[in-house]
Amino acid sequence: MSKDHFLRIPKEVTDMLNQQIAQENLSSFTYLSQAVWCERKGFQGAAKFLYHQSEDERKHMLRIIYYLNELEAPVAIPTQQKGAAATSYPSLHHIFTSVLQNETKVTASIHTIVDYVLQVKDYRTFSFLQWFLEEQREEERVAQRAIELFDIMGNDGGVGLYEIDKALGKLIEEDEEKENAMEE
Ligand SMILES: [Fe+2]
Ligand SMILES: [Fe+2]
Repeated sequence: MSKDHFLRIPKEVTDMLNQQIAQENLSSFTYLSQAVWCERKGFQGAAKFLYHQSEDERKHMLRIIYYLNELEAPVAIPTQQKGAAATSYPSLHHIFTSVLQNETKVTASIHTIVDYVLQVKDYRTFSFLQWFLEEQREEERVAQRAIELFDIMGNDGGVGLYEIDKALGKLIEEDEEKENAMEE
């Protein structure tokens, strides 16, 4: 590995991006374990939503890895989670509340990196992070909408939950369509 990467990207930024890799990885596995719980409980729509989000988080992680590779900067691959992800959750509503909280946390973490790269005039990484700023706006919008569905349809079991689950499946299908349209 050449030392040239220090010329292209400050060491502190490399460290922050590696922390972000770990955070995307953790999000991916958390959503995966929540997807499993939902599927076992018969919430097909919610499971579809969370499997999709889990894959998205892995893609976010890869995006950062590719960027660091391009600059020949060190990459830390998280091979071990701190303990296994939870396997049981109190309720569907609880899961989606935690999704929104997690996305808000990730946005804050991206903002911290953006703040820093501007301070040190690392405009290359600033430009790279634009995509993440947009993505987090979208991720928060979808998570917020998921919570709204509970508010609209009621959260106390039976028909309400059945309808919420269906709507969650539809919500992620719309999101997929949007993503595909953007890629074309
Ligand atoms: Fe992410
Ligand atoms: Fe996310």
